[in-house]
This record gives sequence, structure tokens and C-alpha cells, in this order.
Amino acid sequence: MAYVLVTGGTGFIGSHTAVALAEAGFKPVLLDNLSNSEKSVVESIEKVAGIQVPFFEGDCRDGVIYEKIYAEYPFDAVIHFAAYKAVGESVQLPFKYYDNNINSTVILLDAMMKLGIDKLVFSSSCTVYGKPEKPFVTEQSPLNKPESPYGYTKLVCEQMIEQVIDLKQNMRAVLLRYFNPIGAHESLLLGENPIGVPNNLVPFITQTAIGKRDKLSVFGNDYNTPDGTCVRDYIHVCDVAEAHVSALAYLNQKNDSGVHKFNIGTGRGYSVLEIVKTFEEISGDALNWEFAPRRFGDIDAIYASTELANTELNWQSKRTMKDAIEHAWNWELKHKS
Ligand code: NAD
Ligand code: UFG
Repeated sequence: MAYVLVTGGTGFIGSHTAVALAEAGFKPVLLDNLSNSEKSVVESIEKVAGIQVPFFEGDCRDGVIYEKIYAEYPFDAVIHFAAYKAVGESVQLPFKYYDNNINSTVILLDAMMKLGIDKLVFSSSCTVYGKPEKPFVTEQSPLNKPESPYGYTKLVCEQMIEQVIDLKQNMRAVLLRYFNPIGAHESLLLGENPIGVPNNLVPFITQTAIGKRDKLSVFGNDYNTPDGTCVRDYIHVCDVAEAHVSALAYLNQKNDSGVHKFNIGTGRGYSVLEIVKTFEEISGDALNWEFAPRRFGDIDAIYASTELANTELNWQSKRTMKDAIEHAWNWELKHKS
């Protein structure tokens, strides 16, 4: 089977996807600048996948790198994960996000066109729906004004991919709008290990429970939700990884030039307090947490309609939110040193 270039391949979702690709018979080739991951992840991927996985340390904004990789590993598809993803930081440093997330995609698309690579899977996000009128969103739901510069970069990249494919007609793409990926690989060799203080809820919870953080702040208790805390669609990262295998299979079958968008979630929302309670049940200990003011840019509630991904991509999530929290916690316990 063919080589697949995975940008951001040592990151949280990229590393799990590299394993899923290898298990499905694809040959992942990783590109990452290690701005939010460590090189040792490559070894862990190889251990779980049982194959050697080429790794290139480099930046997606460096156009030359794609020719170099292609010369050694002639890939015929790209999965583009590489981006910065901290919503709060993007509000403080918008240009850092515009530069990395948008320029990486510009340079990659240009290189793909030059090399004649015609299949792209792009990591998008439910942030493209902005603040939705109703929490249950389908791919037809309106794309509202992004709540943060991070969200804006995802919307711009989606639109840029669509436009360039419209104009050039020589590429096809799947845009995967992830909801909230959490968890770790069942082997506990791969998990979520952001550099610095985590922005996301689940790694913050597990790091608090293990003693790396003092206390979890639950941002806001007066949202328009049953218990006042925000509701999100948390999905196991291995289910998200498998969606990429389905997306590649889908693109391999398609002869058209076009863009196809899919929500990648479970269809079920949980509040922050429900996640905290589930974690406490699993760990058997009370978590140190307190309410704190709302975080800028958070919306009340959002969860996915997954019907299109179920029927068109032939994909569905298999693991539960509880499985994901259990794996995240076991992973944290294993890596506590
Ligand atoms: P991550 O930070 O763990 O992984 C991203 C990887 O990209 C990191 O390893 C980082 O070092 C690398 N990277 C960043 N900029 C780069 C560049 N210019 N060149 C090369 N490498 C670069 O994040 P993740 O959670 O795995 O997210 C992957 C993708 O999915 C991102 O595009 C993110 O925006 C998107 N996404 C994530 C979530 C989530 O909650 N995790 C939700 C929706 C969308
Ligand atoms: N939360 C807390 N305390 C924390 C961290 C988070 O209460 O310390 C709350 C947030 O306020 C939110 C919920 O937990 O209500 C989930 O927050 P996350 O930061 O884990 O996730 P978000 O829904 O804000 O954003 C995530 C990713 C983005 C992605 C988005 C939608 O960070 O990259 O999901 O897919 F775009």
C-alpha cells in the first residue's frame, strides 16, 4: 500500500492515526516540528504498530521539505494535522495562529499541486460552527462567526481548500470536523502529553489528580445547560484515528474532484461536571476542583450529528466516554514520573 504523509504526526491525534493507518496496511510517513510533541513518540508508534515509521523533523511552512520527503517516500495522500490548537492562546497571540495554521496549509497545498498529490484529509474542528443556534449540529448547520483566532484559522483553511479545489479541479479532500478528542491508546504507549500546562479539560483533570497541577478550575457555572457547565461531545482518540482510515478509503474510491465534510463525534454531549464525576468514579478519588469565571470564547453546548460519517464514510465511534477517561487516567498513571 501507498505512503501517506502525516503532518503533525507525533502529536496527540496524529500519533494515534499513524498506528491506525499502519494497522490498515498504509505506510505513514511523519512530519512534525516538535513544537507540541516529543521525538520519542515515533518509537512508541513503532512499538504499537510493529513497523518502522519514517520521521522528518521539519516545519510545514518550509515548501522544500515536501520534495525531500517525496523523493524518499513517494506518498500519494496527505493527512494534515499540524497546527497550533490552544484557543485561549490564540486570543492573546492571533498572528502566531494565523501564521502557523494558515501558512502551513497554503504551503502544503501548493506543494501537493506541484507534486501532483491529489488526496487530502484536513483536521478541522467543530469550532467552525461558532456559537450554533442549536447544540446538535449537522454538516449543513450554518458556519457562524468564529469565537477565536484559532477557530478562524480552521474556517479559512476549510474555505481555501474548497476554493483551490474548485479552481484547479485536480484534487479531492475530506474535511474532518472533530468534536472533543480525549483518551489514550489501549496499549498505554500513546496518549495526550501537551508541552506545558494543558488547555484541554481531560489532560488538566488527569494532571491534577496525579499532582502535577494544584486544582482544576471549572470555567463557568451559569451556562444554559442542565447543570450550568458547558456541554461537549467527547470522543475517544482511537475512534478519531479510525475516521482517518475511513476517509482515505473514501478518497481512494472517489474519482471526482471535490470536498467532503464530516462531523467526527459521538452524537452525545456531556457537561464538565459529568466528566469530573466520571473521572472520580474511575480513579476512586475526589478531584480537587472549584468553579472559576467563564473562559473567553467558550460556547454553552455543542454535539455532533454523525449520520453522514456513519453512512458515507462507513465509520462510527465504538468506544464510550468512560473508556476514554479510563484510558487517559491509566496513561497518566503509567507516565507519572
Ligand atoms: P497536537 O498539538 O497534539 O498535535 C499537533 C502537532 O503538530 C504537534 O506535534 C506539533 O508539534 C505539530 N506542529 C504544529 N505546527 C507545526 C508546523 N508548522 N510544522 C510541523 N509540525 C507542526 O494537537 P492534536 O490534538 O493532535 O490536534 C491535531 C489537529 O487536530 C490540529 O490541527 C487541531 O487543530 C485539530 N483539532 C484538535 C482538537 C482537539 O481537541 N485535540 C479538536 C479539533 C481539531
Ligand atoms: N474546561 C474547564 N477547565 C479547564 C479546561 C477546560 O472547565 O481547565 C472546560 C471548558 O471551559 C469547556 C470544556 O471544559 O467547557 C472543554 O474544554 P476543552 O478546552 O477541553 O475543549 P474545547 O471544547 O474548548 O476545545 C477543544 C479543542 C479545540 C477544538 C475544540 C472543538 O481545544 O482545538 O475542542 O473541536 F477546536
